[in-house]
Amino acid sequence: MTNFLDIHTTPTDELRAILDQANAMKAARGMRPKGTPDDELPLQGRVVALIFEKPSTRTRVSFDVGVRQMGGTSMVLSGAEMQLGHGETIADTARVLSRYVDLIMIRTFGEDILQEMAEHASVPVINGLTDSSHPCQIMADVMTFEEHRGPIRGKRIAWMGDGNNVAQSFLHAAASFGFHFTFSGPEALDPDPRLVGAARKAGSEVRIERDPEAAVRDADLVVTDTWVSMGDAESSRQRRHNLLRPYQLNERLMGHAPKDALVMHCLPAHRGEEITDAVLDGPQSVIFDEAENRLHAQKAIMRWCLGV
Ligand code: CP
Ligand code: NVA
Repeated sequence: MTNFLDIHTTPTDELRAILDQANAMKAARGMRPKGTPDDELPLQGRVVALIFEKPSTRTRVSFDVGVRQMGGTSMVLSGAEMQLGHGETIADTARVLSRYVDLIMIRTFGEDILQEMAEHASVPVINGLTDSSHPCQIMADVMTFEEHRGPIRGKRIAWMGDGNNVAQSFLHAAASFGFHFTFSGPEALDPDPRLVGAARKAGSEVRIERDPEAAVRDADLVVTDTWVSMGDAESSRQRRHNLLRPYQLNERLMGHAPKDALVMHCLPAHRGEEITDAVLDGPQSVIFDEAENRLHAQKAIMRWCLGV
């Protein structure tokens, strides 16, 4: 079973093959209208279930459009409207869906839920974000960086703010793709130290730098994300804002970064909180290329899962 559950559980040469395919498919489409099919239709006759237990704009639309462009059919399912949201187990949901569809993408809460889905499904499962990882996002981010700056190996990525799911997938990717990663945020919101250790063991230089200005000084890419993720308790909002305010990505902080450093944010952004308009819309931002590349990267991930 070829699941796409996490960056670190997917062999590096396979990650590279997925990105090569994503780039080739993007180039082959050129500027044709979004609703027209690709020349190749590898998902013809295939049905994909897209399950969301949390909100989504990019993941939902990019997977759906990607399936259509490749000749398949998709259905977007909200967890709350499924029996899953009313007491049916993940295992039974996985067994049943496997009788109807060829591929399952799920966005959920704990990583254990994703693992249980994968364990009981007899079709491939894709991780569309959990509380602790967002591997599809990082595939698009690596693709975007390399489009603009060439190979990411040996490059320096500085993360500002919360050590959340996206930050943790960056740590996984640092080990796989061989880039260096600096985390800059408050100690209370550090990423899982086990991931830091694993990335270091794999040969990445991982720095924890409390001073945001020092963190961006040699960065090839500066990344941030929301201060309150979908899996975080609403009651933690004020505390998180207080802790994270010094790490806002603004023009003053970018003034300490190299002039050619790129800026990314997985979106949705909270303009004026973790990032200012001037940076998000500024000349160093590749944020909307990053959003577009979710489509291309995930099309290649789906093909890889299905072996088509
Ligand atoms: N970046 C991302 O996954 O966005 P959505 O929450 O809109 O899917
Ligand atoms: N860290 C964010 C990412 C959203 C795509 C969240 O989990 O809400």
